[in-house]
Amino acid sequence: MSNAMEPSAKKTIWVTGASSGIGEALVRALVAEGHFVIVSGRNRDALLKVQQLDPKLIRVLSCDVGDDASMAEAGVALREITDQLDTVIAGAGTCEYDDGLTLDIDSYRRVFDANFFGVVNTLREALPLLSNARSPIFAAVGSLSSVVGFPRAEAYGASKAALQYFMDALRADTSQVPLRTVLIRPGFIDTPLTQENDFDMPFLMSPDEAAQRILAGLNGNKAVIDFPRRLSWPLRMLGLLRPIWFGVCAPRMTRIKKLRRGA
Ligand SMILES: NC(=O)c1ccc[n+]([C@@H]2O[C@H](COP(=O)([O-])OP(=O)(O)OC[C@H]3O[C@@H](n4cnc5c(N)ncnc54)[C@H](OP(=O)(O)O)[C@@H]3O)[C@@H](O)[C@H]2O)c1
Repeated sequence: MSNAMEPSAKKTIWVTGASSGIGEALVRALVAEGHFVIVSGRNRDALLKVQQLDPKLIRVLSCDVGDDASMAEAGVALREITDQLDTVIAGAGTCEYDDGLTLDIDSYRRVFDANFFGVVNTLREALPLLSNARSPIFAAVGSLSSVVGFPRAEAYGASKAALQYFMDALRADTSQVPLRTVLIRPGFIDTPLTQENDFDMPFLMSPDEAAQRILAGLNGNKAVIDFPRRLSWPLRMLGLLRPIWFGVCAPRMTRIKKLRRGA
C-alpha cells in the first residue's frame, strides 16, 4: 500500500515547530494546497501570526513538546479539533552547541527534551488519531548531523541520532500496519536556529525550498528524506570512511586544542 501524501487530496495535518523556520514554511506550502493544518510551538503569538496566512485552514495548538503535562493537555485539545490526523510532521527542535566540552547536563537535557522526547510525546498524542486515517504518515525532522560525529554537536547530534534510531525502530514495529514513518534529514537551512552560527554552512537553503523538498518526499514513498544531495552524499560517504572523517576532517573542524585541567 502506498501512503503517499497525494497533492490533490485535502488532508488534516499537525505540524510542530510551526512558529518559525522550516515548520512555518511547511504550513505556508500546505495551506496553499488547501490542507487543514494544526500548528504547534510554545510561542502562541507567533503561531497566531502564522494563522493569519489562512485563518479558516489553520488552527493554533500551543504546547511545549518536551513537557509531558503540556503534551497531555495538547492531546485533549487536539481530539477536540479533529478525530483524524492524516499526517503529522514533528519538526519542533532546538540546537545548543557544547563549546569547550563543558558537558553541561542542563543543556543536554533541554536539547533531548525538544528533539527526542518531544517527538515521542508528539507521536503518543497523535497515534490514536493517525490510526483513524486510511494512509497515515508520521514524519519527524532529524538532521544530516546524525550521519557523522560533528565537533560541538555532542548534544544536538546525539539527540538527532537517538531520533533516527527511534524512527527506525518505529518503522520496524509498524511494518505490518498502515502507518508510514518518515525521517527527514535536512542539511543547513537559513532559519533562526542557524542564523547565530559563526561558521560556513555549505549549500545553505531557504526554508521555502526545504519545505518543497520535504513535501516532494512525502508525496513520494521514501522512508528517509535527505537534502540537499550535494551535502548528504559526501556526508554519507564520510560516515562510511570513518578514518578519513576522524583523521582528516575532524581535526580541521574542532576548536578544542587542549583539555581543561583538573583542580
Ligand atoms: N535549520 C537547519 O539548518 C536545520 C538542519 C537540520 C535539521 N533542522 C531541524 O529542523 C527543525 C526546525 O528547525 P528550524 O531550523 O526551522 O528552526 P527554528 O526556526 O528555530 O524552529 C524551531 C521550531 O521548533 C519550535 N520548538 C522548539 N522547542 C520547542 C518545544 N520545546 N516545544 C514546542 N516547540 C518547540 C519553535 O517554536 P517555539 O519557539 O514557539 O516553541 C520553532 O517553531 C528542528 O528540529 C531542527 O533541529 C534544522
